[in-house]
Amino acid sequence: MLSRRQVYLLAVIVAISLLYIFKLTIPLPQNFKVVPLSENSLEDPSSAYSITTTHPAKPDPIVLTFVLMGQPAALEGLVSIKSAIMHASRPLDIHLICSEDSVEIIEPAITLIRQPYYSLNVIFHVVPLKRVEERLTRAGIGIGKRNWPMLSKLLMHEILIDVEKTIFVDTDMIFVVDPAQLWDNFRTFDDNALLALPTLGPTSHAGEICTCVMLLNLERMRRPEPNSLLIPSSLIPQYKDILTEALDAAERDGIPNMKGRPERASFSRKDAPFGDQGIIYALWMHRPALFPQLSLRWDITQCRSSYGLRLGGFLDKDGKPVEDDTAITEQEQLQIHNYNQKAGEGLIVPGILHFNCQPDAGTNVWEWIENHDDTLKTWAPMVTTTVRYKWIWLNRGNGSANTSIVKHTTIRWLDERIHDSDSEENIIKMTGRRAS
Ligand SMILES: *[C@@H]1O[C@H](CO)[C@@H](O)[C@H](O)[C@H]1NC(C)=O
Ligand SMILES: *[C@@H]1O[C@H](CO)[C@@H](O)[C@H](O)[C@H]1NC(C)=O
Repeated sequence: MLSRRQVYLLAVIVAISLLYIFKLTIPLPQNFKVVPLSENSLEDPSSAYSITTTHPAKPDPIVLTFVLMGQPAALEGLVSIKSAIMHASRPLDIHLICSEDSVEIIEPAITLIRQPYYSLNVIFHVVPLKRVEERLTRAGIGIGKRNWPMLSKLLMHEILIDVEKTIFVDTDMIFVVDPAQLWDNFRTFDDNALLALPTLGPTSHAGEICTCVMLLNLERMRRPEPNSLLIPSSLIPQYKDILTEALDAAERDGIPNMKGRPERASFSRKDAPFGDQGIIYALWMHRPALFPQLSLRWDITQCRSSYGLRLGGFLDKDGKPVEDDTAITEQEQLQIHNYNQKAGEGLIVPGILHFNCQPDAGTNVWEWIENHDDTLKTWAPMVTTTVRYKWIWLNRGNGSANTSIVKHTTIRWLDERIHDSDSEENIIKMTGRRAS
């Protein structure tokens, strides 16, 4: 009697032999070209095949931003950052808005990548929380039950002062596809577009939009209109902004009640629901044309059971192989969930997995054992792969592309720059308006 292991081995050997025998009849993908063997190439069997792909001479980098205020955020963010590098098909600029003590967590990991396949630029922006508090206090925005780290997400456009546009991703999210696909959404932006985020359609309440993943046109956020800033400042009261009107309206009229009844709930800029998300929500309601819609595929959230999507483990709870469901049809998939209809979408294809709404997960969702248990959680194998993937395995290049690390330690907010600027020209450059 053969053991199970021996049966497997035999099957594998038979399969390989069959493949070998029939290899000439297997059609190759179109971009896979068989080069005839010549005398010379016999000495180097690897040159028998060549994959022909078209590399643009110098592709523009994808610009990613993470906010890592404090070491717990940095430890969690490491995994999100790694997932982006693992899947990226272009050079990456990664901006890290962080506290001083976050640098010592991130930097050693990045230094392990000496030979990336595509150039990798990591730029630290060290921002003391006190400075965030000062700036937002000048905007009249308070923390309520939230915290300043959370609200610092509102200031990315003032910190990344030289950056035109960026993708922002929260630390409890991982890419499972190429971030270039998300970046491509910028092409759909019209001249008004400020930032794109996922929502459940125009009637969404504050918990149905998500500032967890955003495509930000930072340049436009610095001057959303010819005569306006995004966020007000008591330092330069003569400057208009587009946020005040939206916050006034939300405080006056209330916002849709997440619990359903009564229809409206009160709103305060000193204690907005979900912190930064509540503030952005007020603007989203007031000026919807500024916000292109982002597909739910970029926020496959645990809060909504991943829209019924799951990878699944190989074995079920009883240790038996799970029935193969990889050939599931689009119709079958669509029947599982209905959020996509509310959002006006069809089939949702996983792009970024989001591990929020897990109150027992602690400060680092990647260390929570349940997220690695494929009998409990639907994405466990992908989480484990990302968490355990070695940083040195990102040395996939041949030395023609490099990693660079830059650290900025002084921060000057936009309102300070405008206030301190003695030159009208500088002000126009920074905000696109003339001082009044
Ligand atoms: C290294 O890889 C790059 C990009 O794939 C290629 O253009 C270059 O010729 C390679 N250099 C060497 C020395 O192999
Ligand atoms: C990477 O670094 C090497 C060695 O310092 C340098 O020769 C090369 O030009 C750099 N490549 C790029 C793309 O900057």
